[in-house]
Amino acid sequence: MIKNGRRLDGRGMEDLRPLTIKAGVLSKADGSAYVEWGNNKVMAAVYGPRECIPRHDSNPYKALVRCIYRMSSFCSIEEHGRHGPSRRGSEISKIISEVFENVVMAEHFPKTAIDVFIEVLQADGGTRVAGLTAAAVALADAGIPMKDVVCGVAVGKIDGEMAADLGKYEDNFGESDIPMAISPRTGEILLFQMDGLLTKEEITKAIDMNFRAAAKVHELQMNALRERYAEKERSGAVSEPLEAQQNESASGQPAERPAPVQ
Ligand code: CDP
Repeated sequence: MIKNGRRLDGRGMEDLRPLTIKAGVLSKADGSAYVEWGNNKVMAAVYGPRECIPRHDSNPYKALVRCIYRMSSFCSIEEHGRHGPSRRGSEISKIISEVFENVVMAEHFPKTAIDVFIEVLQADGGTRVAGLTAAAVALADAGIPMKDVVCGVAVGKIDGEMAADLGKYEDNFGESDIPMAISPRTGEILLFQMDGLLTKEEITKAIDMNFRAAAKVHELQMNALRERYAEKERSGAVSEPLEAQQNESASGQPAERPAPVQ
């Protein structure tokens, strides 16, 4: 999987796949984000803080932060095609919920729920970290107070060497994979998973590589949020959803709705 220091797709060992992040892509959600990371395409939407249903799940002291990660049935040709919940989906939903429980200032919203939905439209290795990265931007877009905009990054071992941001083939046929969630502001590690066997030195190297990758991802997350707020400011209504602002005419009257397609 490595030839002359280059990986299958020509990347160096610390290079990330191309990453683009856009905030505020869904008008119905309170916050949303879309991430393309290599061939991964992931959408995240946030609803809340809102009434916690079922009520017996609610906490009188803080908001309940819930995350649902799902792969679409068309997200990959080889391995997918299923509908409904899966063991892997439940695991990833749980670990991402736990990351955000530690980041969201939930005590400001007692008895409520903050729901985070992650939908993988196309999968190509590293969807949990791509989903987490998108969800953090969607939470910020929803105006939820957080200690940081956290990011998800992964590093693994292929052909005996540590490599950043594994693609699907590297992930499936490599020796190890370490997905992490990192808070670049506080330097905290909020998620650490690992499969395969690594030495102590390799784990230390993996953590260092993930921190360097996190700095790059965080910059793109912040750029997406800056761009989102600049768009809002340009349209003159900072608290309105983007689509509503765009439909508003200069006179302040709602613009004519597009004619339905007959
Ligand atoms: O996506 P992530 O690397 O976080 O999780 P994984 O379980 O290590 O899966 C690696 C890759 O295998 C995914 O990104 C998908 O490309 C593929 N996969 C899939 O297509 N369908 C599944 N049910 C599980 C994995």
